[in-house]
Amino acid sequence: MTSLRLPFCYICAGMEKEKIILGIESSCDDTSAAVLRGQYLLSNVMASQKVHEQYGGVIPELASRAHQQNIVPVVSEAIRQAGVKKEDIDAIAFTRGPGLLGSLLVGTSFAKGLSMSLCKPMIEVNHLQGHVLSHFIKVEGRENRHPEFPFLCLLVSGGHTQIVKVNDYLDFEVLGHTIDDAVGEAFDKCAKIMGLGYPGGPVVDRLAHEGDPEAFHFSKPHVDGLDYSFSGIKTSLLYFLRDRVKSDPAFIEHNKEDLCASFQKELIDILMDKFLKAVRQTGIKQVAIGGGVSANSGLRERITTEGEKRGWTTFLPEFRFTTDNAAMIAMVGYFKFQKGMIASLDIAPISRALDYSLKSI
Ligand code: KG4
Ligand code: ZN
Repeated sequence: MTSLRLPFCYICAGMEKEKIILGIESSCDDTSAAVLRGQYLLSNVMASQKVHEQYGGVIPELASRAHQQNIVPVVSEAIRQAGVKKEDIDAIAFTRGPGLLGSLLVGTSFAKGLSMSLCKPMIEVNHLQGHVLSHFIKVEGRENRHPEFPFLCLLVSGGHTQIVKVNDYLDFEVLGHTIDDAVGEAFDKCAKIMGLGYPGGPVVDRLAHEGDPEAFHFSKPHVDGLDYSFSGIKTSLLYFLRDRVKSDPAFIEHNKEDLCASFQKELIDILMDKFLKAVRQTGIKQVAIGGGVSANSGLRERITTEGEKRGWTTFLPEFRFTTDNAAMIAMVGYFKFQKGMIASLDIAPISRALDYSLKSI
């Protein structure tokens, strides 16, 4: 009797075993869904909300309404682009917080509904942890470098500014954080005062390329330890421009490049001053940046040159993983799923960072 032997490929068998994670991000004004197979990205779909531009900032009520409209098509498209069936998904990772409550509610409720209908587990994700672990997303056909543990991450976004010591995928220590505003808010405020639109970071970054970073100086904060403060420098810019505009109404228009370059340089100086201190104190030379402001070309250049001088191994996220995206949420979901960290169906979003700090994961 002859036995039938089916062809067997160890590589494919290994791939099949890799879990498929759907990520959902809705903490602020971007609705995003992504699919990962293991650590590999299969899709990452984003719907940005243009509606806020006319108001110069995010309007929470409008953000949650737009998430409601976007979430079904965005998730469907992410599953379609990934080339998987929804039944193939092993777990649904969603952003539990921090963020805008109404926005988080849309993503959380959607994840619950999908989890019940597909009978698949849900995994809660801290948005900030997503920014940090975005360095572990792998992309087919690209060199997939990632930091070794422990590493230091300068986490800079629209709502947060922190220096984080990352001991392992799920083991974080916040060494310093802002005591008032986030650095992203300072970029956005600068653009708003100057009438450059929202979000301000990208436009300040672009104009800064054409300006002199030494043209103007603004007052720097004096904060102890590894903490940050950005409210004073915002006020310093506001008063400076108010005084100048009184005598020359066209002052901003004629100096916008120099103003952006100078303000951006001051912000980067503040960030780097404490970050260098953190590296000195910990002796850790694996360093990374993450969050929306890590897209800033000045910051990327500065941390790279400081790193070259000091023998650091520096990791900059790919641009599409700097601002809010669901790939980073799925990435955290993957690591938590491996540890069996499943959320219960009665879970509620947590809006405030203070109530959902990285340390409490
Ligand atoms: O991480 P993110 O998308 O949302 C939050 O979690 O807050 O960060 C958004 C922030 C905004 O303040 C935006 O102005 C800033 O990131 N940003 C930038 C740049 N691109 C986005 N800031 C400076 N330079 C950029 N190129
Ligand atoms: Zn973010």
